[in-house]
Amino acid sequence: MAEIRIRNTGERITGEENVREFLNGQGVLYEHWDTSKLPGHLRDKYVLSDEEKNEILRAYDAEIRDLAGRRGYQTWDVVALSDATPNLEELLKKFEQVHTHTEDEVRAIVAGEGIFVIKGKPETGYFDVKLNAGDVISVPEGNPHFFTLTDLRRVVAVRLFIEPSGWVAHPYEDPEFQKA
Ligand SMILES: [Fe+2]
Repeated sequence: MAEIRIRNTGERITGEENVREFLNGQGVLYEHWDTSKLPGHLRDKYVLSDEEKNEILRAYDAEIRDLAGRRGYQTWDVVALSDATPNLEELLKKFEQVHTHTEDEVRAIVAGEGIFVIKGKPETGYFDVKLNAGDVISVPEGNPHFFTLTDLRRVVAVRLFIEPSGWVAHPYEDPEFQKA
C-alpha cells in the first residue's frame, strides 16, 4: 500500500484512505488494483519477455480498459526495471530530474516498488509517494515530478498514454526543490 512522506516536515501518511485523501487533495489520482489477478509465476519476475508483458496486460485488461475509458488513454505497455536492466545507474540519474509532461503520467505498479517525487501545493511542497504492487497513480499534466526506485531497485509497472508527444519530459528547474 502506498505511503507518503512530505519532504519539508518529514511527516508520513499511511493507510489507504489517508493516502487517497491526501493525494486527491493534491490533484493526484490514486487507485488500487487487485494483485491476486497477476499469475503467480509473474509475481516476482523483473526480466520479462514480450509474451510475459502481454500476459500482464491480459491479467489487468478490465482495469486498464476501465481507466482508459474514464481518462482517455489510447495505448499502454509494461516496463520492467531491475539490476538486470543495462545502465540502470545512468537511467536512474536521468530519471531523478524534476520534469513535466503535456499529459498526465499514470503508472500501475505490478511488482516491486517505486517512488514518485511530486511537487505539491505551495503549503505542502515536494512529497514522496512510495508505491507497492497494486498501487495506481497519475501525476497531473504539467505537474513537476520524477520517478525513481527504492533500495529494492526493482519494479514492474503498466504505463498508459494518451499520445506519444505527451510522453516527452520537459526539464523543470526549481529553486524550491527539496532534496530528500
Ligand atoms: Fe515523468
